[in-house]
Amino acid sequence: MCGIAGYFGEKENTDKVLISILEKLEYRGYDSAGIAIKQGKKIVFEKATGELKNLKEKLKGVEFEKGGLGIAHTRWATHGKPSVTNAHPHRQGRVYLVHNGIIENYKEIESFLKKRGYKFSTDTDTEKVAALFDYNLKQEKDSQKAFEKTLKALRGAFAIVAFVEDENQLFLARLSSPLVVGVSEKDFYIASDALALSNFSKRVIYLDDFDYALVGGFGFRHFSFKDGKQKTSKIEDFDESLTSAEKGNFDSFMLKEIYEQPDSIYSSIAGRIKNGRAVLGGLKDVEKELESAKEIHFVAAGTSFNATLAVKDLFESLGVPVFNLLASEAKYSKARVREGTVAFFISQSGETADTKEALKKYKEAGALCLGITNTVASSIARETHAGVYNHAGPEISVASTKAFSSQIAVLILIYAKIKELKLGLERKDKTLLKELQILPDILKKEIKKIDKKAKEIAKALKKANSMYTLARAGELALAFESALKIKEISYIHAEGYPSGELKHGPIALIEKDFPVLMFFGNELYEKTFSNAQEVKARGAYLISVLDKTHKDAKKISDRYFELNYIKSKANIILQSLPLQLLAYHLAKEKGLNVDKPRNLAKSVTVE
Ligand code: F6R
Repeated sequence: MCGIAGYFGEKENTDKVLISILEKLEYRGYDSAGIAIKQGKKIVFEKATGELKNLKEKLKGVEFEKGGLGIAHTRWATHGKPSVTNAHPHRQGRVYLVHNGIIENYKEIESFLKKRGYKFSTDTDTEKVAALFDYNLKQEKDSQKAFEKTLKALRGAFAIVAFVEDENQLFLARLSSPLVVGVSEKDFYIASDALALSNFSKRVIYLDDFDYALVGGFGFRHFSFKDGKQKTSKIEDFDESLTSAEKGNFDSFMLKEIYEQPDSIYSSIAGRIKNGRAVLGGLKDVEKELESAKEIHFVAAGTSFNATLAVKDLFESLGVPVFNLLASEAKYSKARVREGTVAFFISQSGETADTKEALKKYKEAGALCLGITNTVASSIARETHAGVYNHAGPEISVASTKAFSSQIAVLILIYAKIKELKLGLERKDKTLLKELQILPDILKKEIKKIDKKAKEIAKALKKANSMYTLARAGELALAFESALKIKEISYIHAEGYPSGELKHGPIALIEKDFPVLMFFGNELYEKTFSNAQEVKARGAYLISVLDKTHKDAKKISDRYFELNYIKSKANIILQSLPLQLLAYHLAKEKGLNVDKPRNLAKSVTVE
């Protein structure tokens, strides 16, 4: 959570650089923001609650020169409620500091420092880090040593950028929380995410875990706080495609990203299907292990977890046990990793703390760990043994849409690869790959019609405060994903359930006009139809996602999305358009900010 920005240089307006970076990071948190800029001896220090525009308002009329240094932050509260006091940067003594992550031993640090005369005015862990750095500055003559000593004393996860009021340099550090530096001659731009640097520099240095750096008139100096040794920095070229992170003509990133799906699916599979076979360069070196895989585990959170549910049945057809595990639970699982366990870690951001933690456990237990991420050089991409990128392009909206569909597309390719290695491809697998290839065109044709329908249905549902989203077997992932998407952006309570479970309890809630969103698959159509009749008999308001051949279901539905189903598993991506667009329109009908739902942030980098 939280977004960090920093700048040291000569040629830019420091305030403008920092605000521009924060604007691109607002998706990481937006409950408060703050800035500290040092130009010569003058320091401007401002904070505001709410969205970034409130901070910008406070900075109006403040005179800035070109160059200097500065740090800034957009926050998603972990320690302490959103308030001006708790907003970053935090100042203690000579130190100004911003931080992303969680410091686990902040209580110990606090009592150590209280005994030495420090007073604290915020509820944050970050303020304690600033104070510890300030304390160490008094103990050590050299500020680099003081910074290194501070970092060594911290337990937890952090990305930190700081400055000392009477020095002209920035202090940077990373442990389990991303930090990137854009380089342009004598100017350095710092952010939690390379995407946010796109306006400034195409050459970047990624800090690794246990790295720290000093940035100043001397340039960029790179060290490890594990052993104190200097490192050689690797400057990498920044992926041009990331610069497309603008809303364009859409009113929100969410809608833009929903509409991008024909293109993002295309990019996810481009060059990866040749002569009816899946070709995945990222898995080339682990083909032997895939062939002999005895168990497949999928570990992920939220929408990424739902994407793994969408392909569970497909992977089960490989004849090996398949486990779908929520990362927040998997990291505590006592289940043994057996010989031949292949574990996939699926994460749009590649930075989700729960997924990273589970990955650590699986690695220690000796599993082959493979990543599926949408973010190049993210922690999960680097820490897994091998993997596949989604190539869906940057996803900015907090509510994940195009990442979900591209994860399913990539998982289908991985299934086809393992199937080929283990059992050989059958005709149905080739059909599956072919249908995946034509899917972008199908989505393009259907999307406007679905959008229009979703808008009408959302109008009918906007007064609802509770609903069920139901499906069976192969479509179950859609029931869970609809409930998640509807809850997170429209704040309507939605509960995803296997429709066969209705009679075991949930049906008690059904009464006149209770909304039920039901997904009909071709497989188990009759059974789902019976469940639809059961809820209709009790007065439910039935909204169905169905195929044009599902005539009976259409008859009993109050509203429906009628699609032209394709036969294979690729169909689930088509079926997910109605749920994404319905959630979007429900939020719009209620006048909510779809890109910035309350209490949420895009990357959940805290456990
Ligand atoms: C919901 C949503 C979240 C994420 C989850 C995992 O729309 O976006 O549920 O899917 O936080 O994030 P990643 O995929 O980045 O690990």
